[in-house]
Amino acid sequence: MRRYHLTTFGCQMNVYDSDRLEGLLAARGWLKAEATDQADFIFFNTCSIREKAAQRVISRLNEFKSLKKTKPHLVIGVGGCLAEQEGLNFLNKAPFLSLVAGPKRLTEIPELLERLDPTGPAVVLAGDGPAPLLAPTPKTQVLSAFVTIMEGCDNFCAYCVVPYLRGREKSRPLKEILTEVEGLLAQGAREITLLGQNVNSYAPNGEPQKGAEAPFTTLLKRLDSYSELWRLRFATSHPKDFPPDLIALFGTLRTLAPNLHLPLQSGSDAILQAMGRHYDWAQYLGLVKRLKEVNPALALNTDIIVGFPGETDDDLNQTLKALATVRYDSIFSFKYSDRPQTRALNLPHKVPEAVKAKRLTLVQTLQNGVTLEINRALIGQTVEVLVTGKGREPGQMSGRTGSNKIVNFLGSPDLYGQMVAVTITAAYKASLLGQINS
Ligand code: 5AD
Ligand code: SF4
Repeated sequence: MRRYHLTTFGCQMNVYDSDRLEGLLAARGWLKAEATDQADFIFFNTCSIREKAAQRVISRLNEFKSLKKTKPHLVIGVGGCLAEQEGLNFLNKAPFLSLVAGPKRLTEIPELLERLDPTGPAVVLAGDGPAPLLAPTPKTQVLSAFVTIMEGCDNFCAYCVVPYLRGREKSRPLKEILTEVEGLLAQGAREITLLGQNVNSYAPNGEPQKGAEAPFTTLLKRLDSYSELWRLRFATSHPKDFPPDLIALFGTLRTLAPNLHLPLQSGSDAILQAMGRHYDWAQYLGLVKRLKEVNPALALNTDIIVGFPGETDDDLNQTLKALATVRYDSIFSFKYSDRPQTRALNLPHKVPEAVKAKRLTLVQTLQNGVTLEINRALIGQTVEVLVTGKGREPGQMSGRTGSNKIVNFLGSPDLYGQMVAVTITAAYKASLLGQINS
């Protein structure tokens, strides 16, 4: 039996791509290896969004140099955004690789493995491939499933490498998405997360007509009508593309979970402008207020970059003020990192590493306090949890609230796939502890 070992770095889109790849490998009889030393095919689905992520892949890969020497028939491959960015270059950094495949080429891998010679020259696949880019493919994770609705990005934020590596926006036809979701629901899916770099510019037939409902709104309404669907989520949406009809859905749709990832990046108008985000802080806050009017329980998450070129202490203070004002449930925060091809790469006034590190600590310390306060306020309350697997401790099961918080509680494995009421008894930064209501 052939076995594969797959490691995924980076965003949800990569998690989704890896899941598609696993589904295709399983269809060809591949089994999952528990550890890399039992695998015939070792694969890294990589990320290039920040330099640190890229370095981590290279150092992880080097651990396999000697394994390849002792097992020459082992196939070691890299895929995803770093593979697209580096292409042939990857072979200089890791000459023991047999396969380098960009994000648009991953679905070709299972077939390629049938004829690849692990002792021969490496195969490099980049750019667009012959296979339809967004075609639905088998998945391994079904209860809470991801469905890509669009891929790529047209925004070209000054710091971001995504438009260069994932290409321009491409949307899947509405009918194809509905068919995929229907298939998943029939297999037992109860939660669907729609994925795309910029889901609210979903436009299957090019630009939406003036005055007509945005296609993304139509899509959400259509999905809401499936009675087997319990929860609907989407990520990521750009604050500049948030029409009133989309805001309203957070108050009207049965399935739309009270949770939204709305990347702010910075609280300073000067930095937002330099980043090319096309909104200012007042506009962003206005959007948050309108969303909270529609659904006061909406849990918000965001992304923050500190140390963008030219960022001053005052700019950083505006970001801290923004965090204290919005009170996000959680955030992802990053030190700005130079990426190839991006506009910010050539901007003056780069912020020294030590200053970036200090600013990141300030941001994270403030946010940790807010997150803990929000989570602790849930103690004593009852939440609806979709049970998705075992918890960390023996006897525990685990699941997520509508606001996407992890809840662990004592319970039987039969609860998998059910929606249960849990009373929260303790709260931490990244999870909650609860007791199932009897
Ligand atoms: N440096 C730091 N953070 C970045 N992000 C994107 N590009 C960079 C970069 N060059 C962050 C943004 C984005 C998230 C996915 O990664 O916050 O929303
Ligand atoms: Fe990158 Fe901006 Fe597109 Fe997000 S919206 S993927 S940050 S360019």
